[in-house]
Amino acid sequence: MTNLNMILQFLSLLLFLLMPVSSQPDQLLYDGFKGLGSNNMTLNGVAEIESNGVLKLTNDSSKVIGHAFYPTPFQFKNSSEGKAFSFSTSFALVIVPEFPKLGGHGLAFTIAPTKDLKAHPAQYLGLLDSSDMGKFSNHLFAVEFDTAKDFEFGDINDNHVGIDINSLASNASAPAGYYTGNDDSSKQNLTLQSGNPILAWVDYDASQSVVNVTISASSTKPKRPLLSFHVDLSPIFEKSMYVGFSASTGLLASSHYILGWSFKINGPAPPLDLSSLPQLPGPKKKHTSLIIGVSVSCVVLALCAVLFGIYMYRRHKNADVIEAWELEIGPHRYSYQELKKATKGFKDKQLLGQGGFGSVYKGTLPNSKTQVAVKRISHDSKQGLREFVSEIASIGRLRHRNLVQLLGWCRRRGDLLLVYDFMANGSLDKYLFDEPETILSWEQRFKIIKDVASALLYLHEDYEQVVVHRDVKASNVLLDGELNGRLGDFGLARLYEHGANPSTTRVVGTLGYLAPEVPRTGKATPNSDVFAFGALLLEVASGLRPLEPKALPEDMVLVDCVWNKFKQGRILDMVDPRLNGVFNEREMLMVLKLGLLCSNGAPNARPSMRQVVRFLEGEVGLPDELRKSGDLSYQEGFDEFLHTLEPSSIDQTSTGSYDRNRDMHVSFPSSTDTSLYTLHGKGETR
Ligand SMILES: *[C@@H]1O[C@H](CO)[C@@H](O)[C@H](O)[C@H]1NC(C)=O
Ligand SMILES: *[C@@H]1O[C@H](CO)[C@@H](O)[C@H](O)[C@H]1NC(C)=O
Ligand SMILES: *[C@@H]1O[C@H](CO)[C@@H](O)[C@H](O)[C@H]1NC(C)=O
Ligand SMILES: *[C@@H]1O[C@H](CO)[C@@H](O)[C@H](O)[C@H]1NC(C)=O
Ligand SMILES: *[C@@H]1O[C@H](CO)[C@@H](O)[C@H](O)[C@H]1NC(C)=O
Ligand SMILES: *[C@@H]1O[C@H](CO)[C@@H](O)[C@H](O)[C@H]1NC(C)=O
Repeated sequence: MTNLNMILQFLSLLLFLLMPVSSQPDQLLYDGFKGLGSNNMTLNGVAEIESNGVLKLTNDSSKVIGHAFYPTPFQFKNSSEGKAFSFSTSFALVIVPEFPKLGGHGLAFTIAPTKDLKAHPAQYLGLLDSSDMGKFSNHLFAVEFDTAKDFEFGDINDNHVGIDINSLASNASAPAGYYTGNDDSSKQNLTLQSGNPILAWVDYDASQSVVNVTISASSTKPKRPLLSFHVDLSPIFEKSMYVGFSASTGLLASSHYILGWSFKINGPAPPLDLSSLPQLPGPKKKHTSLIIGVSVSCVVLALCAVLFGIYMYRRHKNADVIEAWELEIGPHRYSYQELKKATKGFKDKQLLGQGGFGSVYKGTLPNSKTQVAVKRISHDSKQGLREFVSEIASIGRLRHRNLVQLLGWCRRRGDLLLVYDFMANGSLDKYLFDEPETILSWEQRFKIIKDVASALLYLHEDYEQVVVHRDVKASNVLLDGELNGRLGDFGLARLYEHGANPSTTRVVGTLGYLAPEVPRTGKATPNSDVFAFGALLLEVASGLRPLEPKALPEDMVLVDCVWNKFKQGRILDMVDPRLNGVFNEREMLMVLKLGLLCSNGAPNARPSMRQVVRFLEGEVGLPDELRKSGDLSYQEGFDEFLHTLEPSSIDQTSTGSYDRNRDMHVSFPSSTDTSLYTLHGKGETR
């Protein structure tokens, strides 16, 4: 026996020395992950193997990444210049969303040159960094099982399978499903985040240069693949590549699981049988348990109140009373205590700013130490509040890199607290008006304009429903650490309209950005956002506010100044002198003219955001001739409106004299009775 062992050992050593290449594995089969250690799988991020043998890539925490790779690389080529080998893999996956139908973001079978992917969570699926998107040097091949529709990657829906090469913009994708026959009509839909196991196969045939992806709810592989994509992977693969899985969550989260996995180079992957793989414990009854939790804590609270009398009365004052409907709201619900702690008790020192909708505090979440901005909105009616909060669910689902991400919310009595990503560089108005400490270069300004345009396009056209921002302005454009422009407060204006008295819809906006038709019709539309965006363009180019009540009457309205200069053929006179003449003239002219085009008094004469983006990207030239007005000139509509808002009437409601640093935030009932117009300065919340 021992001799035989020694001989075998010697032989394998000899083999190892003679043919180092063949020591690399060419196949693996895991019928579940029970008992596997770091020799069998390398786990990173929040990934772990559960005691029941299930590989869990992510849990319900938001913005986490999980990676699981086979520890040693597979050989995908004979030489680095050679032709890639065929491969085949099969795996069983389960995606359990945090809330029924509301989950994110998905998982991906991954072949990469490294196990340590430098990557972002959320829509990046833990695969790539936003700056690496599309780079040939990524050498990344992935098959994504994506449960969120991301505009920036042109996703087709929120339940698709896609083949990704070096980028998360899929080279081929299809709504999740399988074919029972050969024709298109035999397709059966599958819901990726149903919580049920899905078996997937990925096969690459090197001689045909075809990748097939097939999925099914049973162990039998359908004959016709869901995706069949013609591609030669030889330039994508390096000689050695790591194989495994990546998953991530965003604001909304799903638990992503792999139940079993097989893989083979140059041959069909060993088959998996769903019935012999480990299973997830039964569905979590999350909501019921929360409700039970709440009622138990109520009982405890009542008992304690008896025991501790006044002491508990004081504690109770701070406790959240969670109502049943609140549990149905999608995005993360923070506890009041958590937010109070994060903002050091809403201290004035933490105050970042005050706006039309409330005060914004800087905070640091106690557990994760992430920096956040907490917006505190007081609301006077419970009725409105419920509608208010249910809209948060839809706001929370808006995801775009140029929107300030809503992380979660909390309600306590009449206070609504919204938690957002913290934007390190504050709001754009600080860099434009009066005596800014930092002057943004034209290049930076132009980039910010394009960022805001792409966010608005997303809100108007690429989300499931049309979202009108209603309050586009420089102080709502925030700048992150890398000076990317991100639009904030989206949807809030609409929420605010649910106002105290539900029978009167109020129109909200900011003077100077408010399209002239809005006070008349009482309705904000994508066109009125375009108008406000026009005002933003002009102020970014000129460094002037859209409305300067203290200026001479002819200089009071920025768009009129620009218009007059344009007619005199001297539009570049309007350029912000702080730029010291350093700017790209073609871009500057385009931005100023586009600003005029968007500021047209006639809503239908304004371009759509899609057109605006095309102009800004230089895909289309602006019309040579600009006409100032449609049926209703900018001036007419606005003069009529300004009439009701003379500085004297502004002084009445804001604190003391009109302060040019304040945005004049206006809201009024949709009836055109001018006597009811009210004005809020930023001072109103004090
Ligand atoms: C896990 O790794 C160990 C040590 O390398 C090996 O002996 C074992 O066969 C592996 N298990 C499976 C299921 O491949
Ligand atoms: C998810 O996993 C991480 C790391 O294992 C843990 O810190 C976190 O509490 C988990 N979250 C949930 C919601 O279970
Ligand atoms: C790789 O090398 C092996 C042995 O030298 C050879 O049999 C095989 O055909 C080569 N494969 C490719 C794709 O060139
Ligand atoms: C796949 O998509 C990326 C990014 O969209 C693109 O750069 C690449 O050329 C595509 N590759 C193939 C083979 O179609
Ligand atoms: C499958 O989903 C598509 C939308 O993705 C829908 O149009 C179609 O009717 C669905 N088919 C079945 C059989 O439910
Ligand atoms: C890919 O699918 C096509 C049918 O669409 C089939 O002819 C081909 O053999 C498949 N290739 C592999 C490697 O599965």
